[in-house]
Amino acid sequence: MITVAIGKGRMQESALALLARAGIRLNDGVNSRRLALMDETRQYRFIFVKPADVPVYVEHGIADCGIVGRDVLLESEADLLLPLDLQIARCRIVVAAADPEAMTKVQGMIRVATKYSQIARAHFGARGIPVEIIQLSGSVELAPALGLADMIVDLVETGQTLRENGLTIVEEIAESTGRLVVNRASYQLKAEEVSRLLDMICRLKQD
Ligand code: PRP
Repeated sequence: MITVAIGKGRMQESALALLARAGIRLNDGVNSRRLALMDETRQYRFIFVKPADVPVYVEHGIADCGIVGRDVLLESEADLLLPLDLQIARCRIVVAAADPEAMTKVQGMIRVATKYSQIARAHFGARGIPVEIIQLSGSVELAPALGLADMIVDLVETGQTLRENGLTIVEEIAESTGRLVVNRASYQLKAEEVSRLLDMICRLKQD
């Protein structure tokens, strides 16, 4: 049996749909609040955790594999194998502000609110722009309107959250899709099981 950690929220639905297409079906309970479920064949155990915790569970070997967005992996320092881009849950990591010219208009140090402090720091650092990073854990789009920050670095999928909060994209930092990650030891010790899962998913891409 192998354990697969899946990020709750935007990744969960598309990950389960992908697994179903690959022939992996979960027992009853998908719509319950249970955080650990077996598949029908009992070859796979799925655990549903906060997206930022997926790399932690996989790095520590509690989960052999994980399904998580590239956004989370860019933010994480976990040592993982990254064999597969699942091409699900596609979205972008962007810089957004109320004023599209904000980058040139802000006086003094730019204040950037974000859940993605590593990504934001690396992005502005690479461009030689000094910024103050304000770490939030959600509802980041509120920060500019309330005067907490000049701009944000956040995830955009449909763009609706930005639009409804009066923000526009200033720059795109990276694209993010769901990735399958594997624990280094499991890749060796459970080679057969992990390869079977990878093959089942890879076959879908060829269809
Ligand atoms: C993300 C992101 C935006 C929203 C973007 O939040 O932080 O708030 O989705 O989606 P949209 O472009 O389709 O409107 P998410 O729901 O992943 O989690 P959060 O509320 O914890 O930030």
